[in-house]
Amino acid sequence: MSQPIEPLLLGVMGDPIAQSKSPLMHESALKASSIQGRYVPLHVLARDLPRAIEGIRAMNFRGVNVTVPHKVEVMPLLDHIDEAACRIGAVNTIVNDHGVLTGYNTDGIGYVRSLKEEVTSNLEGSTILVIGAGGAARGIIYALLQERPAQIIIANRTLDKAEKLVEEWSDIGHLTAISMDDASKAASEADIVVNTTSVGMVPDIHELPLVVESYRSGAVFSDLIYNPLQTEFLRQASLQGCRVHSGLGMFIYQGAYAFEYWTGVTPDIEKMRQAVLDSLS
Ligand code: ATR
Repeated sequence: MSQPIEPLLLGVMGDPIAQSKSPLMHESALKASSIQGRYVPLHVLARDLPRAIEGIRAMNFRGVNVTVPHKVEVMPLLDHIDEAACRIGAVNTIVNDHGVLTGYNTDGIGYVRSLKEEVTSNLEGSTILVIGAGGAARGIIYALLQERPAQIIIANRTLDKAEKLVEEWSDIGHLTAISMDDASKAASEADIVVNTTSVGMVPDIHELPLVVESYRSGAVFSDLIYNPLQTEFLRQASLQGCRVHSGLGMFIYQGAYAFEYWTGVTPDIEKMRQAVLDSLS
């Protein structure tokens, strides 16, 4: 008698995790692809991370996403790290091949894919201002550099952190660090301005990561935040006639790349987007 097919086990590890939209997004993708599987929220405390990773092998999960606060600490617990994730210094996706765990970072490529699909297909030769120099900024800057922009300017509250990143990646692109005092002028001259900080996220929806004094027509303003869908930062840019790009697309595409790594199937992006939108409204 043939064995019944075991459902594909997937999940997301973090602390906290109850608020994560990943389970409903991935379950909608599994359903739309007619794949028998489950994607579950896994509440893992920092002290339990090594045992939780062992559990992935022991319970034969096909893969997991990794979110705050484990994206960096999980790296030494894996068997292999993809080159981009290694340079970024963070993993958000783990693939389990018969007990061998490989870490990837799909945040940056997810962001760039969404930017290209939704607003501007050609990033080559552009000037990009990135606000923030933390983990999220590293992911998107690394992926943006693959698109051959003319330059990426990094503005950060702690200038030193931006300067260190510029030095670290001087071999892969034209990067410049500036203080937040100089960021308004840089924003009025850039082709694309991206907020990678959490400033403006629910519940602090009236806060701005940067006060922009003048807007250049045709510029793109982008935010990694997707709750609210349109931050105050994007709302002001939109009122000034700039094109805007919310963080929802990055969230969807980082998930879509992870889904492809686990299943080999291209998921239904619109179903994933709708599942998240329904949960936000
Ligand atoms: P993430 O993984 O979300 O990027 P992180 O690595 O802690 O989180 O980085 C947060 C980034 O947002 C940093 O660039 C941080 O600036 P500092 O390096 O000066 O800390 C920036 N950030 C966070 N809160 C901020 C605030 N209220 N104003 C300006 N920048 C802020």
